[in-house]
Amino acid sequence: MHRILVLNAKGGCGKTTVATNLAGYYASQGRSTVLLDYDPQGSSMRWLSLRDAERPSIHGIAAYQRRRDVTRAFQMRLPPEAEVAIMDAPAGVAGLILAEYVQRVDTVLLPVLPSPIDIHAAAHFIQDLLLVGKARAAGTRIAIVANRVRENNLVFKDLEHFLSNLKLPLVATLRDSQTHIRAAEQGLGVHELKNSQTDKDLERWTPLISWLDEAAEQLEPHRIATVIPIATGYPG
Ligand SMILES: Nc1ncnc2c1ncn2[C@@H]1O[C@H](COP(=O)(O)OP(=O)(O)OP(=O)(O)O)[C@@H](O)[C@H]1O
Ligand SMILES: [Mg+2]
Repeated sequence: MHRILVLNAKGGCGKTTVATNLAGYYASQGRSTVLLDYDPQGSSMRWLSLRDAERPSIHGIAAYQRRRDVTRAFQMRLPPEAEVAIMDAPAGVAGLILAEYVQRVDTVLLPVLPSPIDIHAAAHFIQDLLLVGKARAAGTRIAIVANRVRENNLVFKDLEHFLSNLKLPLVATLRDSQTHIRAAEQGLGVHELKNSQTDKDLERWTPLISWLDEAAEQLEPHRIATVIPIATGYPG
């Protein structure tokens, strides 16, 4: 099973958008897909609730909930056939909780918006991920996804330079487009929308999906066998 965590300390950068679109994509490919929502805002679970029952199903887990009727381990159990688990993290994750998240997943995707403030914050967060989260020591793969990019957006040049020094890939630049909003309103991923206007958006997702396929092929056997995190996801 490939465990993919979508994470960035910054709010509103596209964590839920990336998580839900990947869930829609994998489900539409016939893969047994789990979507875990660690954010008390519950945006991924709301997206799932909008999804038509006739669409390929996605197993949702509201990981942000503190259920008193069942144990945490029971609440977090995955279907045995699960192939991909996608985790939507809340904003503001730091410190020990960051380390707990990162060390229990295979892959971290970090969406970043194309503004100097967001890029600066992302650079700090990446340092935390590597130092506090010990992501590299844990063997977790990290990739950056530029989100809501308009044509001719040059602001990522600085980020690319910073990332190349750290040898981290900028795997995709997703367009700022209504397609993402329309898909979200229906509990779908952009790959599940069938119309000619989505082509330009879909091609931006392709390198991310290829990178994830490659990461999945290279999962170490012991990591494949490891069960899903039972992290609480937020303090208190
Ligand atoms: N590529 C995109 N094109 C158009 N709109 C987008 C795109 N990505 C995100 N959005 C919109 O931006 C807003 C924030 O995105 P999203 O909810 O995915 O961010 P988030 O990081 O999960 O936020 P939060 O930290 O609040 O959980 C949403 O309204 C979403 O529809
Ligand atoms: Mg969100």
